[in-house]
Amino acid sequence: MTRPTSAIIDTSALRANFALAQRLAPKAKSMPMVKANAYGHGMVNVAQTLADMAPAFGVACIEEALELRQANIKQPILLLEGPHSADEVEIAEQHGFWLMLENYNQLQAVLSSQLTTAITVWLKLDTGMHRLGFQPEDLKSIYKQVSDSSNVADDIVLATHFACADNLDSNFTNQQLQRFESAIDSLEAKPNLISLTNSAAILGWPSIQDNWQRPGYMLYGASPFAKPHKNADQLKPVMHFQSAVISIRSIACGESVGYTANWTAERPSVIATIAVGYGDGYPRHAPNGTPVLIGGIKCPLVGNVSMDMISVDITDLPWPIDIGEKVTLWGPDLGVNEVAKHCGTIGYELLTRMPSRVPRVYQD
Ligand SMILES: Cc1ncc(COP(=O)(O)O)c(C=O)c1O
Repeated sequence: MTRPTSAIIDTSALRANFALAQRLAPKAKSMPMVKANAYGHGMVNVAQTLADMAPAFGVACIEEALELRQANIKQPILLLEGPHSADEVEIAEQHGFWLMLENYNQLQAVLSSQLTTAITVWLKLDTGMHRLGFQPEDLKSIYKQVSDSSNVADDIVLATHFACADNLDSNFTNQQLQRFESAIDSLEAKPNLISLTNSAAILGWPSIQDNWQRPGYMLYGASPFAKPHKNADQLKPVMHFQSAVISIRSIACGESVGYTANWTAERPSVIATIAVGYGDGYPRHAPNGTPVLIGGIKCPLVGNVSMDMISVDITDLPWPIDIGEKVTLWGPDLGVNEVAKHCGTIGYELLTRMPSRVPRVYQD
């Protein structure tokens, strides 16, 4: 007997989504973003699933990169936040990690390290997101310093990150692109390699071509767009977050459900208790009415989410169900974006916050 709560991970969907990213820009290389436990899907398993297709992987920090190496992932691994301290440069050299450099401390750390092998460096430009990156007007001097350094390999990549690519009506992406292009124009010799695109740009801005795509969310089968989109609609959801009914009761009109009694039945109601709660990554702030799929039918969440359980109003289900009935919290038939919208957040957060208590079950 085991608790019926798990996240089924469809590895063929993951591979199909990666293949879509690759198909949308056949000349580019695609680097799967597997940071934050592969957006909750299990970093090592995701990297192993994509290992024969992906030329490199992207993570946030060196701890994640080391975990991939320990799991025998052989590809180069890009540290998106770059080295957090000078010693990370040598660790990166040892393990074949690539470093994004985005500030002068990092630049200095690389230039002044005692390395025996040159490492691959990406230079990040702040073209408008104002989170990480060098100022575009400083590129010329920075680029010269890294190209002249024997610590840096020849394949320098110039990168930036889009803030609003999920909004296809916004001009912000074009503005960022223009700033990026002007920075490149300031260089005497054009760089060979650039990296611009996240999921939204890969799917929604086909005119933006780069050498290295950096797909994240799309790999996991969810659309970065609020509206239907011809490319995004081809994505296949990878995670099926499921549980089961563990108790059923009838309550009278006027009775309430759950902590703080924040939902009261306005008619005689049938309430199913499901074995999933905020301790499993189901959002604590999910409001009454958030859809939960039972027997393929959307039933409304009622009452506060508890640590290990939620309650669902199944009064309107057209057929009786029993304890043990399977329930979908999100998955192929109930998009994580839809659940997230009810909760005032984004699917990224729901996927990424799934804790280790939920067993990931990998199925082809
Ligand atoms: C630098 C960088 N590139 C790419 C990505 C992937 O973005 P997405 O998951 O929207 O594809 C991220 C995600 O946060 C990122 O920080």
